[in-house]
Parts: sequence; structure tokens; C-alpha cells
Amino acid sequence: MMKTILAKVDLSQPEAMEIIRRAAKILQEGGLVAFPTETVYGLGGNGLDGAACEKIYLAKGRPSDNPLILHISELEELKPIVGEISPAAQRLMDAFWPGPLTMVFPKSDIVPEKATGGLDTVAVRFPNHPVARAIIREAGLPIAAPSANSSGKPSPTRASHVAFDLDGRIDMIVDGGAAEWGLESTIVDVSGEVPMILRPGAVTKEMMEEVVGRVEIDPAILRKPEADLKPKAPGMKYTHYSPKAEVILVKGEKEAVAAKINALAAEDMAQGRKTGVMATEETKSLYHADIILSLGSRMKPEEIGANLFKYLRKFDFLGAERVYSEVFSEEGEGMAIMNRLHKAAGYRIIDIEEEANGKGACD
Ligand code: TXA
Ligand code: MG
Repeated sequence: MMKTILAKVDLSQPEAMEIIRRAAKILQEGGLVAFPTETVYGLGGNGLDGAACEKIYLAKGRPSDNPLILHISELEELKPIVGEISPAAQRLMDAFWPGPLTMVFPKSDIVPEKATGGLDTVAVRFPNHPVARAIIREAGLPIAAPSANSSGKPSPTRASHVAFDLDGRIDMIVDGGAAEWGLESTIVDVSGEVPMILRPGAVTKEMMEEVVGRVEIDPAILRKPEADLKPKAPGMKYTHYSPKAEVILVKGEKEAVAAKINALAAEDMAQGRKTGVMATEETKSLYHADIILSLGSRMKPEEIGANLFKYLRKFDFLGAERVYSEVFSEEGEGMAIMNRLHKAAGYRIIDIEEEANGKGACD
């Protein structure tokens, strides 16, 4: 166990720069610092130092074939770490950087294989969070930063989530408040001819198509990964993204979903199982269970996205053993929400209409 420094930072205060400099120095010396971004908290290390990258894998308990994202604080920091920048990549950069978009480029020789899990491409993100950018700029290095959770847990959207998972395993946690988006960045591979989305996020397919015309989606992210359909982002093949509780999605018309969940929850509770429901503002009054949490209003998908990981963690905290969740539209940002929900549930979904048609569902 090492001592983890926990420092709150408010950039409007003069003492903030001292904390930023301290974090940057730790990174330059090969240590690990967790910091906020506008998507989720990242666990940073020197992205050009194989040994620092190795420490990241160790601290998270992350499989070493799952590559890291390098974070930059200015556009000119991109060139040295990538090979060719395609015209489509250039247009996406102009439109969405800094922001919640990660792009996969051919990598340059200075990026160690430890950072890319042996791949010849590198994922790069230019975050739009002032604290992240200040730390990266001060360190003067591309910063490798996966989400700052233990591998398999929901990504952290608060410094307290990072501390819960990684206290004693990393050098410092910089607390810059809640992450605004709450879901990890969109990943788009721009190393080929047509940009391909490898992980859905706040920057949607429609938004990118407006800028570059055609954009494809890795078919493997839309359904359960199988041997014949491996996701192109290695991290997307891990289904357990999840709380300790078993999560089951229930799909159908509002009242039917509530009736189904209430019936299943009643059985669970009768067997002494602590049971939760992940509901919305519009539906929370329909349920009976030990724990009912509302993700927010269905009219505001950005609110649902921002709260999802926080509530998955909260169910754990409250000791839920089984959690039933409603599903959401896959339009726009909804694709990112449903992608994470499916993963949290290990792809278990009860489709009420299919069940009524005799197909059976819970697989
Ligand atoms: O919003 C985010 O992207 C956050 C914040 C901290 O920036 N970071 C994040 O990192 O989500 P991580 O490590 O949890 O997820 C990175 C994903 C993994 O699924 C990984 O497999 C994929 O990016 N990835 C990284 N490099 C890649 C590459 N060269 N080709 C394909 N996928 C890659
Ligand atoms: Mg992650």
C-alpha cells in the first residue's frame, strides 16, 4: 500500500497551480495520478514510458491486451505520436476537439507497445476539461489514461469513486468535481478509409456524419460479443462493466415493464434477496422493491448518461443483489447509454413482447 494524496482543485483559486504542478511532477517521475475529464475520471501515467503504462495495468488489474488512450492538451502534441492523419480525421478533429471523442490513428515509433497493447495503432483524446488540460500541459507529455476504476467496475464519475477503487494503489487523486458526461468518450477509428465507431459516446454517428459523410459502426458493439464477432476495440469485449449485483434489463411498454419487474422483484425479495430497480422520474412511483433509484428524466438522455455509473455504484453501496433496469431508446446518445447498460447486465434482457409471442427471452 502506498499513501495516495487526495487534493481538491478549484482553478479559480491561486493555490490550484501548486496542485497541478505537484500532479505533473508525479507524472514526469513515472507515477500515477487520477484526474477529472468531462467524460469520466482518468488514471494518468506517462504515455511514452512503458514502465509507467505497466503500473497503470497493475493498479487497475487490467488485462494487458487492452490498450490505453493517450491524452493531449494542445493540437500540436498529436503529430509526434501518430503516423498519417487522414482528411476525415482532420475534419473530425476540427469539429469535435477538444471534447469527448477519441480517435484511433496509426502510431508513431515513440509510442511504446505497452501503451497500445502491442497494436500498431494508438488511440488519442484531447479532453475539454480545464483540470485535465492543465495537468497534461504542465507535465509536457502525452498522458496515458484509462478510466480510473478497478478493471470491470463502472467508470468513476467522482473522485470518491476513484478513491474507493484505487486508494493505496496510486500516487495522487485530483478532485475536480463531478464529470459532466458520465460516460466514456466515443472512440472512432480513423486509420482506415471510412471512419468506424468502436465505442459509442457523446459524439454520435449522426454528428460525425454531418462532418465527414459516411461513418460505420463496429457491428460487434451492437450485440453480445461472440467468437465470430470480436469488437475492434479490445476493451469492448469485456462484458463485466458492472456492479456486484446481477443486472437484468426489462424491455417493453411502460406499464407492462413495471408489472413484470414488480412480479420478479417480489419473488426475489420473498427469497430474501435484496432487490433494486433502476427507474426514471416518469416511472419510479410504479415500482415496489427494496431500493428504487431514478436515473433522471427520460426527456433528458444527457441526465441519464451522467447518472448511470453513479447509480450502478450506489446499488453496490446499498447492498443490492439483483437490479432490474428499464431500457432506453438507442437514438443519438442513447446508443452509448444502452451499450453500457447491456454490458453491465452481461447482455441479459427480458423482452416482454417476445416473451408473449412465446419466444422466451431471458438469455
Ligand atoms: O472518456 C474516456 O475515453 C476515458 C477518459 C479518462 O478519457 N478513458 C477511457 O479509457 O475510457 P479506457 O481505457 O477505459 O477505454 C479505452 C478503450 C478500450 O476499450 C480500448 O480497448 C480502446 O479504448 N482502445 C485503446 N486503444 C485502441 C486502439 N489502438 N485500437 C482500438 N481500440 C483501442
Ligand atoms: Mg474503462
